[in-house]
Amino acid sequence: MSRLGILTSGGDAPGMNAAVRAAVRCADGLGLQMVGIRQGYTGLIEGDVIDLDNRAVGGIIERGGTILRTARSAAFLTEEGRRKALATVETCRLDGLVVIGGNGSLRGARWLHRAGVPTVGVPASIDSDVSGTEMAIGVDTALNTVVGCLDRLRDTAISHERVFIVEVMGRESGYIALMGGLAGGAEIILIPEEPTSLQRVASRVVEGLASGKRHSIVVVAEGFPIERRGGYEAVSAGRRIADVLEADRGLETRLTILGHLQRGGSPSAFDRILASRFGEAAVRYHAEGRTGEMTALSCGDVTGIPLDEIEKPGSHVDLALYRLAHTIAH
Ligand code: F6P
Repeated sequence: MSRLGILTSGGDAPGMNAAVRAAVRCADGLGLQMVGIRQGYTGLIEGDVIDLDNRAVGGIIERGGTILRTARSAAFLTEEGRRKALATVETCRLDGLVVIGGNGSLRGARWLHRAGVPTVGVPASIDSDVSGTEMAIGVDTALNTVVGCLDRLRDTAISHERVFIVEVMGRESGYIALMGGLAGGAEIILIPEEPTSLQRVASRVVEGLASGKRHSIVVVAEGFPIERRGGYEAVSAGRRIADVLEADRGLETRLTILGHLQRGGSPSAFDRILASRFGEAAVRYHAEGRTGEMTALSCGDVTGIPLDEIEKPGSHVDLALYRLAHTIAH
């Protein structure tokens, strides 16, 4: 019987557990034995593995995070770390791997495949920046979390007639900020893909208030580029914008940094279904000899694309939606 290792790596994403559950249970039907690798590539380096059967993955479809735990492994980027990872594959008699994670993790999967370990990748990252797939596991849940928070913040923003700055995740991708801001009715959305000067942002807030609005919600992606010289080196994008609005325009502002709240929580129905489909496809691709691929969503269908195509992070930001969000925020 072939043995497949499965790991979750990088930032956790709601739905990772549902993918593990589906992979384990579909593997069973294909005559494959699944082995869980704890803490992503750290566990692969250290040989921290556990046999998984159908019962081991019971009661997890609704759980956020990852039962396998995860890590951002710096050691896996070193020659020694990679040598040890390959040694674990040998000693644990793994015939292949399923790697669930974002861009960095999928690049690791591609390396392993090229190094001779048959590997299938599964995209999971709340950032929605994995190229080649329309959706990654976790994006939908994170987005709904952001929208829920914006709804709550709007209640208090309206009541006090304040300007709220809401900083959301996305170091390089403005997807959550854009889609969350659009669905949450934000007045202004600031994303790395559309840089704007801070004074222009401040003017737009002031113009909105002058047009009769009594409150304003500015959603900013953490990776929105701001001028960081002159004592602002360690200041977050949201903090800097709030300071400019207060100091230069005399506005009362409140800053909320949603941070890791966006990564936790029970996965949405969409993420549970996507993860289940990806988990099934990943083990099926192994059984069919289609390794070196990543499961992907394309026009509603699950398909496989070569891991070679995930070289660069892709942006799913649609600038037409960026314009729409601002048009309907007037
Ligand atoms: O998983 C992606 C992400 O959530 C980014 O949006 C964010 O910048 C980063 O992870 C935070 O990483 P960490 O949990 O390591 O602080």
